[in-house]
Order: sequence, then structure tokens, then C-alpha cells
Amino acid sequence: MNVTFTLNGKEVTAEYEEGMSVLDVLREVCLIKSCKDGCSGQGFCGACTVLINGKAMVSCRQKPASIEGKEIITVEGLDRVEQEILSKSLVKEGAVQCGYCSPGLLIRIKGFLDQHPTSTREQKAKAITGNLCRCTGYQRILDAMETAEEHWQTKNPDISGPPRRNKFFGEQYGFEREFQPKEHGVGSSTQRYRGVDMALGKK
Ligand code: FES
Ligand code: FES
Repeated sequence: MNVTFTLNGKEVTAEYEEGMSVLDVLREVCLIKSCKDGCSGQGFCGACTVLINGKAMVSCRQKPASIEGKEIITVEGLDRVEQEILSKSLVKEGAVQCGYCSPGLLIRIKGFLDQHPTSTREQKAKAITGNLCRCTGYQRILDAMETAEEHWQTKNPDISGPPRRNKFFGEQYGFEREFQPKEHGVGSSTQRYRGVDMALGKK
């Protein structure tokens, strides 16, 4: 069986077998590795999220025939500036650890920011309910969405400055920081090694 669709701006015709999902076609036939299988195709984790005609959807629950003539965009198909804004925001705010959920999350956030130039933290939280992350806790992901939102309309990829969650842990218990950690020194938080590559699904 064959399906013809637009993948990251190029028309492709992919041959597939009975029982394969869109995720299988993307990974095994089109060799797109950013979309992951995190729940054996049950539709629970969001690691396989792609844009289908501009809407973020899990690809593991779609039959290949359903994307005939449609436009699919994966992380690989985003332009460089959007890749930078999203991946650097996730890394800066500490929202990338193992990185397995990150490309699906990144696509979900892209779809959301395209539709919602501004939104509340609650709206952001609702938008990512279909994307599970076992590592980071969702607050850092919401921080990253806020950071990306600030750069999205202007398409400014300069994601510099300290992370939002940069407070001394003991502050909430009334302790004061006894010394200011040096940048990249003991006591400072560091960004995930190769985090940007992980967020973009290159690792
Ligand atoms: S692999 Fe598609 S939702 Fe988990
Ligand atoms: S599952 Fe590991 S960073 Fe989200």
C-alpha cells in the first residue's frame, strides 16, 4: 500500500504494510527520528506528536491512509529560528533531562504558540496535558513555554539570561544564600549537556 503526503515541505510517497501507523511510516519508511514511541502506540504519552495540517496530533494512532494529501511537519521541518527558540527555551529552563519526550513536546508547543500569541500558565498547562514527561516535572516545561512565548512573535532566537527558576532552594524555608555561586561553578545550575540536540531529536 502507498500513501502520498507532504513531509516537511516535500511531497513523498511511502510504501507501508497493513497494521503500520503514521508513526511507523515516519520512523521506518521516511527515517524521521525525532518522533518517538513512548507508549507502544497507545496514544498516551505524546512522544510521537507531529503537526498534521497545522494541528499537533499523536502520530501513533493515525492510520497512514488518513494522511493522504495532508501536510506533516516534524521537528526536522521547522525553520532554524523556531528550532532555536523552542529548544533553547526548554534547555535554559531545565525542561530537558533524558530528552525522550522533548521533540514531541517541542512540536506541541510550536502548534500552541502559533495559535496563541499570549496565554495564561493554566492555558499552557492544559495545552500539554497529552505530553507526558517522567523526568523534569511540568513546572519547568511551563517556564520554557513562557520563555518561548516572549520570543515567538518577534522570532528572536537570543535566549540568554538566567532561568526563571533560579532561586536558592532554601529561600522557601527562610534561609539565605551564604555565597553567590559563580557561573558554571559549584552551586550553580548548569544546562543539560547536548540538551539542544536532545530537544531537536538528534540524540
Ligand atoms: S507513542 Fe504515540 S502517544 Fe505514545
Ligand atoms: S521524559 Fe525525560 S525529559 Fe521528559
